[in-house]
Amino acid sequence: MQPDNMQVREDGRLRHFLSVEGLNRGLLTEILDTAESFAGVAEQSVKKVPLLRGKTIVNLFFEASTRTRTTFELAAKRLSADVLNINAEASATVKGETLLDTLRNLQAMHVDMFVVRHSNSGTAHFIARHVLPHVSVINAGDGRHAHPTQAMLDMFTIRREKGADFGRLTVAIVGDIAHSRVARSQIHALNLLNTGEVRVVAPRTLIPSHVEALGVRVFHDLREGLREADVVIMLRLQHERMQGALLPSEHEYYELYGLTEKRLALASPDVTVMHPGPINRGVEMDSEVADGPRSVILEQVTHGIAVRMAVMSMAMGRRGEGAD
Ligand code: CP
Repeated sequence: MQPDNMQVREDGRLRHFLSVEGLNRGLLTEILDTAESFAGVAEQSVKKVPLLRGKTIVNLFFEASTRTRTTFELAAKRLSADVLNINAEASATVKGETLLDTLRNLQAMHVDMFVVRHSNSGTAHFIARHVLPHVSVINAGDGRHAHPTQAMLDMFTIRREKGADFGRLTVAIVGDIAHSRVARSQIHALNLLNTGEVRVVAPRTLIPSHVEALGVRVFHDLREGLREADVVIMLRLQHERMQGALLPSEHEYYELYGLTEKRLALASPDVTVMHPGPINRGVEMDSEVADGPRSVILEQVTHGIAVRMAVMSMAMGRRGEGAD
């Protein structure tokens, strides 16, 4: 597949990172390899490389975030960029200023990159269409559409745990597929990396119609969906995006879809358990599983820094060696 023109420069290098969809395997592999070169920066006595010295990055967050915002900030600082953090309450949009006017004012301060999270799908693409030619936009999650850096840190985590041959892996994504931008981006990334089998596991009310067209197998029975899986990715119930009663109760959801040690025993003996966070313990999974030996949930957070360093440096045209 040809890369999405808006995201990619004429010479094939990344300009914006708005969605995994529209990129190609070569670019995804370059992100993973570049992230690998940055993973050692955290072990240095001075946790910095000078690649983005003199660049200004704005984190523009219109929706709550713990992991994504802070790891983008740390990633930018470890690349030696100057970072501004703007959240919805602190922005003039609450006084009626349009998003476009906010953007124009920030650009007047000679910004080089926007990292954007918004509850409306398409916001990052909208901003990317209106920025100056030298400015890059990274999507940090838009509505239920895409969360591409989360998907890439998940791919990085899987590659670290299981090796680079995704073709021999069965990956089960369990939970609220219908409202999840993370699941959508993961499915595109897993397919681009030629994953052996990608499963989605959820009640009928939490699976989008025609999801099979994305190249996944659908399961409604958790036990069937977990069988022999090499990687299990649990998702949060996205109550904030649900309209109407899609579930009888969280308790009932846990009874049918909650991940317990007993259910996990159906998966491959060396199964890896993941969750993008935030976790609802006792709803999506037991604490015994979340904190157990198969869980790499905190490693995912750590890897998010290296992956975001990779994406930011590539978009700025500064692919360099990470650690000294
Ligand atoms: N995984 C994720 O996007 O977490 P935050 O909402 O805390 O950023």
